[in-house]
Formats: sequence, C-alpha cells, structure tokens
Amino acid sequence: MLHARLRRPLGRAYADLSKAWVPCRRSLLNSQSSGCPDHNKLLNERRQSHSTAASRQCQQVPVEQEPPVSAYVHLPFCKRRCYYCDFPVSVVGSKPERPGIQQGMQDYITLLCREIEAMVKVPGPPLRTVFFGGGTPTLVPPQLLKQILVALNNKYGIAKDAEISMESDPGTFDVLRLQEYMSLGVSRFSMGVQCFQQELLELCGRSHTLEDVYKAINDIHQAGVQNWSLDLISGLPQLNSKRWQHSLQEAVGAGPTHISVYDLQASDFYMIACVLTCTQCMYFYTCTTVL
Ligand SMILES: C[S@@+](CC[C@H](N)C(=O)[O-])C[C@H]1O[C@@H](n2cnc3c(N)ncnc32)[C@H](O)[C@@H]1O
Ligand code: SF4
Repeated sequence: MLHARLRRPLGRAYADLSKAWVPCRRSLLNSQSSGCPDHNKLLNERRQSHSTAASRQCQQVPVEQEPPVSAYVHLPFCKRRCYYCDFPVSVVGSKPERPGIQQGMQDYITLLCREIEAMVKVPGPPLRTVFFGGGTPTLVPPQLLKQILVALNNKYGIAKDAEISMESDPGTFDVLRLQEYMSLGVSRFSMGVQCFQQELLELCGRSHTLEDVYKAINDIHQAGVQNWSLDLISGLPQLNSKRWQHSLQEAVGAGPTHISVYDLQASDFYMIACVLTCTQCMYFYTCTTVL
C-alpha cells in the first residue's frame, strides 16, 4: 500500500516514482525506427537525451543508509476497471458515495495509517514529495486523505514546500473538492484523459464521458490549480493520426503544466484490437505537436 522511497532526492516526484510505474509501461522511446528521415532524427535526439537522464536516475545508493525523501501512497478505488488497465484496483461502482463504499474506504485508510505508524523511522529531513497514485485518489473524500497526511506528518514530517500530488479521473471531483484537497496541502494534480473522442473512451471502458473531461478541465482552472498534468494514451484501438492530432491539440489547449503520453501496454485480447494502430506515427505526431 505504502512505499516510502528510500532514495536520494531526484528533483521531481515523477523521477522518484518512476520505478513504481515503469513495469506497466513501455516507453515511446522504444519505438522502432521508421523509413521517415525526420521521424528517425527526432527519435534519435529523444533517445540520446533520455538515456542521459535515465543513467542519472540509475545511480542508486544502498537503501538502508538513506532516510525516506518521498512517499508513494496507493489508493486503489476506481468506478470501474478500464479494459487496458492492469494496475491493482478495487472497483467501487458508479456511486462511490454509498455508505458501504465509504466505510470500505475508511477501513482501508485506517489500515494504511496503522501501516505508516508501524514503519521504522529513519532519522532524516521531512518528506519532500508525497504522491497519491491509483486507482483514482480523487474518489477518496478529503477528510480521509487528511488522515493519511496526518499519519505521514507524524511519522516522517512533511516539508512545508513539499510537492503533494494526486492522480484523478474526470467525473470524480468538482471545484469545491479540488479546493478542499488544496487546503490540505495538495499542490499538483495528474488527470487521466487518455483521448478526446467519446467513442474511444467507450471502447477502452473509461467511466467518464468526453463532456466530463471538458468539465474537469474547467473545474481545475476555476479551482485555481497551478500545477497539473494531463495523461494521454497512444495506440488505443481505432486511434488514427487524425484523431491523435486532435487529442494532442485539445490537450495542449487545455493548458496543463505537463502532458504525459503513455504508449499503450496491453496483452492478449485487448492487444488484438490494437494491432493495426501505428504507434510510430503517433510518436511522430506527438513530437511535432507538443515539443
Ligand atoms: C494508473 S492510472 C491512475 C490514474 C487514473 N485512474 C487514470 O486512469 O488516469 C495513471 C495513468 O496510467 C496510464 N495507464 C494505465 N494503464 C495503462 C496501460 N495499460 N497502458 C498505457 N498507459 C496506461 C493512463 O494514462 C493513466 O492516466
Ligand atoms: S481509472 Fe485509472 S487506475 Fe482505474 S482502471 Fe482506469 S486506468 Fe486503471
């Protein structure tokens, strides 16, 4: 449930947490070369800059010598499971506000807080980053999130200027809820949109509509969130270059501080539906639209 990262600070939460994410994803940089010279040049430049960054990230130190600098807290609740997703999630259905579901969340968080209390404390500075990943952390009511932050603060301390991030899905928050999270110290949100086509959202089993996506973007701006990231997935079934360019343009137009593009990781049945989607082309359009 909780992973206190016993590693040297790497500057950004994403870098610190990359180890927890990588097994489920294949980097776009692993794409094969194509016949297009521009595409190949872009690929080579990106590969070179990323391999330098990757070698910096790999300079690990023995874990037992270092106090934790960041915490990853897994909040597994999702309204439904997307067809492509193999993350550990617990499906709560479309009405997470039901008392039985709320009680289940409270029970999970009570155990999580006990786990935090039981962890060995290594003397050191307070946490620099806290990352609530999922699952869909924004399904967890602010008063429950507060319990976790209090437990972490009691155990390790949380730096005053710590970056506290939450993953989120459209359709799971409104302006007030975002502001409540922010009043607890949450300073960054990461929202999974995946694509800007209603039919593709349905095809990948997302719990939200395209309308929810635009409402969520509006709510983020209205709530005054300064730092937020938007996730897209390339290689979804029935994605083509026109749709992908539209998604990239809408993502840029939404004004996030960061965009993450994940190459679809899928196996077995779902992979068959994706086999005709050209990930190299998607990569090329991503480079030319976003970078
Ligand atoms: C694990 S989800 C958690 C946050 C939130 N529930 C959501 O769906 O956005 C974080 C991101 O992982 C990416 N992801 C999940 N499963 C994936 C897969 N099989 N292939 C590629 N990306 C994936 C999606 O882009 C998603 O936004
Ligand atoms: S909402 Fe996010 S974590 Fe939940 S099943 Fe879908 S991709 Fe996975």
